[in-house]
Amino acid sequence: MEKDILRVLLTEEELSRKVGELGAAISADYAGKNLMMVSVLKGSVVFMADLMRAITIPCRIDFMSVSSYGSGAKTSGVVKILKDLDINLEGLDLLIIEDILDSGLTLSYIKQILEDRHPHSIRLCTLLDKPDRRQADIAANYKGFEIPDEFVVGYGLDYAECYRNLPYIGILKPEVYGG
Ligand code: IMP
Ligand code: MG
Repeated sequence: MEKDILRVLLTEEELSRKVGELGAAISADYAGKNLMMVSVLKGSVVFMADLMRAITIPCRIDFMSVSSYGSGAKTSGVVKILKDLDINLEGLDLLIIEDILDSGLTLSYIKQILEDRHPHSIRLCTLLDKPDRRQADIAANYKGFEIPDEFVVGYGLDYAECYRNLPYIGILKPEVYGG
């Protein structure tokens, strides 16, 4: 795996420090509320697992799984729900946990689906943000790092389902994906 990494973008220490800061901010902001962390599988599982342990107030977690409609590499943002949430959202303060906010098309679609279920509130926390690539009108309420438009893997993020288990975030060598 290591040989496919061009360079480390974010080290384990940097990630851990940032997750601690985000957890403290969320704990303060959601004190006395009904925090429910929702993540879309699978890229955000590592972030979710670390972030929830940095949160010091009661919270619920749930997961959903989606697949993009249509063929080709271009994402339309329209998704089919493969696994829905188990928990009724009414009255809950939803915090969507994302690994990376890229075009934002998928997430704005999912956010709309969840808004239709009338949670008390709905906000977004993303570990990484690639603002240069945004197509949808969506912004994160909590953001770990802004990163340049390069393809990154590790800490949950994959290329062809691999590299998710790297403990840091690295830039993939372009020759690995034929770039
Ligand atoms: P979008 O915001 O609808 O374009 O989709 C974002 C999704 O694309 C993320 O949840 C990731 O699965 C994937 N993605 C975008 N950029 C990267 C990257 O640099 N590495 C790995 N996955 C990425
Ligand atoms: Mg993903």
